[in-house]
Amino acid sequence: MVGNRPQYIKAAVVSRVVRSVVDEVLLDTGQHYDHELAGVFYDELALPRPDIELGVGSDSHARQTAAMLTGIADAIAAVTPRLVLVYGDTNSTLAGALAAAKLQVPIAHVEAGLRSFDRRMPEEVNRVLTDHLSSLLFCPTDTAVANLAAEGIVAGVAQVGDVMFDLAISTLSAAREQSVLALLGVRSGGYVLATAHRPANTDEPANLEAILLALGARDETVIFPAHPRTVASIDRFGLTELVTPNIRLIAPVGYSESLALVKNARVVATDSGGLQKEAYFFSVPCVTMRDSSEWVETIESGWNILVGSDREALAAALAAPPRGARHPAFYGRGDAGEHLAVALAGFLEKTAGAPEAGRRGARPFAGDQGGKR
Ligand code: UD1
Ligand code: UDP
Repeated sequence: MVGNRPQYIKAAVVSRVVRSVVDEVLLDTGQHYDHELAGVFYDELALPRPDIELGVGSDSHARQTAAMLTGIADAIAAVTPRLVLVYGDTNSTLAGALAAAKLQVPIAHVEAGLRSFDRRMPEEVNRVLTDHLSSLLFCPTDTAVANLAAEGIVAGVAQVGDVMFDLAISTLSAAREQSVLALLGVRSGGYVLATAHRPANTDEPANLEAILLALGARDETVIFPAHPRTVASIDRFGLTELVTPNIRLIAPVGYSESLALVKNARVVATDSGGLQKEAYFFSVPCVTMRDSSEWVETIESGWNILVGSDREALAAALAAPPRGARHPAFYGRGDAGEHLAVALAGFLEKTAGAPEAGRRGARPFAGDQGGKR
């Protein structure tokens, strides 16, 4: 199940390997629907078209998640899958996991075990709940495995590496990088890449203002591919004047464009989970405009720093970006997809004879397997 930008990107790796071991029915919740947040990734990443589209769109968390829940439950009842596979930590993730759990269909979670230990963020709640409902937990890092163990989850856990790393290191070419930089008129190492879409930054006028002021004070170009909610907030809060000439507020970009912009930035300033990681992949310093991060290795190794929405802390970090002394391979060797396929195949083989596993009315899967704790 997919439904928003980072999920299409992860699915570009995972859907292919899933289809190498079993039939896949792809469901898109429609949480993201603008072409630049959704369709562009189907096209660019050659993702198979969804078999089922719920088209839920935007709403409050409760209404959006509820609409997904009923739509997904109907789809599961119709398709009767052996397994439901969900990605990451968004409302689409939780709705998929909850619907499957209610229908006693086993769940596989890609990017399991991440924790920021900050329950003020909806994503943290989505992560914890999804992990506790899952039978197969694909962890990207050792930290993620340890986080799950600390919560008593040990069975069904596989450290496969990070599927976004697989994609990141196999996507770019020098020619593509050059064409992206030329199109935007910037040179490698000569600009800041900024993104922001978290409610803490986009729904709080003072925080959005602080970010724009710090970025606007830089004597260098800031490329800012803006999520539609950020553009709407700048307008709604009357902050348009703070978008100074050095800030290039542009529409969201495609995946290879985004990667090229990360790889060649002097520094990345973001509240995105994925971008923190991609900056690390390419040894680019990252300044994270959040109070917490689930990608703790990037911070502990000295390549990423948390500045919240504090103007002065952001300004200081942009002036002297973090750069670690070491750069360990936290995220695997670029073969996470292959490891995931092996773990998935093993799971399917082991459960092949399970009576009616994954069918409505079946006994709980975890119980069939003797539980996971
Ligand atoms: C969602 C995820 C977040 C993830 C991000 C990836 C949740 C709670 N949040 O945040 O974890 O990092 O996706 O980008 O699941 N909008 C549009 N066009 C669209 C989609 C949304 O204009 O195609 C606008 C709407 O005004 C909407 C707002 O963006 O209300 C927020 O969209 P939503 O999907 O609720 O959350 P994101 O901020 O995108
Ligand atoms: N990304 C993109 N275009 C953009 C901004 C981001 O393709 O304009 C990519 C980025 O490179 C990363 C992913 O989207 O692969 C991160 O998604 P996002 O920031 O929306 O969500 P998060 O990772 O915070 O959940």
